[in-house]
Amino acid sequence: MLENIVAHSRQVCRVSLWMADHRETNGLNRDLIRAAALLHDITKTRSFSTGEDHAETGRKMLTEMGYPEVGRIVGQHVRLERYFASPVPDEAEIVNYADKRVLHDRIVPLAERMQYIVERYGLSPERKSALLLLWEKSEALERRLFAGLSIVPEDLIPDSAVHLPHSG
Ligand SMILES: [Fe+2]
Repeated sequence: MLENIVAHSRQVCRVSLWMADHRETNGLNRDLIRAAALLHDITKTRSFSTGEDHAETGRKMLTEMGYPEVGRIVGQHVRLERYFASPVPDEAEIVNYADKRVLHDRIVPLAERMQYIVERYGLSPERKSALLLLWEKSEALERRLFAGLSIVPEDLIPDSAVHLPHSG
């Protein structure tokens, strides 16, 4: 795995755990979140040369290694299988959102990350409109994740990173 992807994954892990720690009685599996966040881009490095769908191949790799629960979350880190299927946010939603708040290894607003994704990957009109739709869904996910909490998305700023849980 490329060094910068390791740094990105660690930061996504810290943001994910921060989100989980601010939800109290929700039955979230913190260890599962940690594993999935750290491993979410496990096949990303090789995808640069193979062109594979790294969310899907990451899911497959982890499932074949005997970690289907981790694989299920990794497989949904770009796009959720179903948006808001459960009454309360689950581990997959948290890791998916956290990945959309970390650009390289920096915590950024959702809009900045999505702008980057649209510019980098929206190379055809079809891809671009699919990504704009993903942006809208991610905004709805952000509203859902923060609804009723004492924290707001803006609490997650680069300067606050020192207060985030350690990713290890
Ligand atoms: Fe990824």
